[in-house]
Amino acid sequence: MVLIEWSKDLELGIPEIDKQHRKLVEMLNEFYTELEEGHKQEAVEHFLKNLEDYLSFHLDYEEKFMEEIGFPETEGHKKVHQMFKKLYAEEKNRYLQGDTKALRELVAFAFSWLFSHIMKTDRKYADFLKEKRG
Ligand SMILES: [Fe+2]
Repeated sequence: MVLIEWSKDLELGIPEIDKQHRKLVEMLNEFYTELEEGHKQEAVEHFLKNLEDYLSFHLDYEEKFMEEIGFPETEGHKKVHQMFKKLYAEEKNRYLQGDTKALRELVAFAFSWLFSHIMKTDRKYADFLKEKRG
């Protein structure tokens, strides 16, 4: 697995949301680096909790944002978020139940999900907003 480098391709042109996406990428990079270097269980659990909190803050923020701009596909987008949260929770539980491989899978999954989600799904409300603003 490789770290994600922030690039212009990931920018949606919505400053607050770009900032949050950037922070998520940073958190995942940090987490992955920590895993590579060996880690204490306590630190990992702390990190998992932080990541989960920030993710849920971010996804809620996005959902409110889509509602505010009147994005017509908000409901479908919310379902995608719910599915992600469910998968994240499942991987986390697997780890907490003693499956050590689940941790790397969780980070890898969160990375690839975030990347393609920003590029494909989030881009849709950004394009909608651009068009609306003209
Ligand atoms: Fe999203």
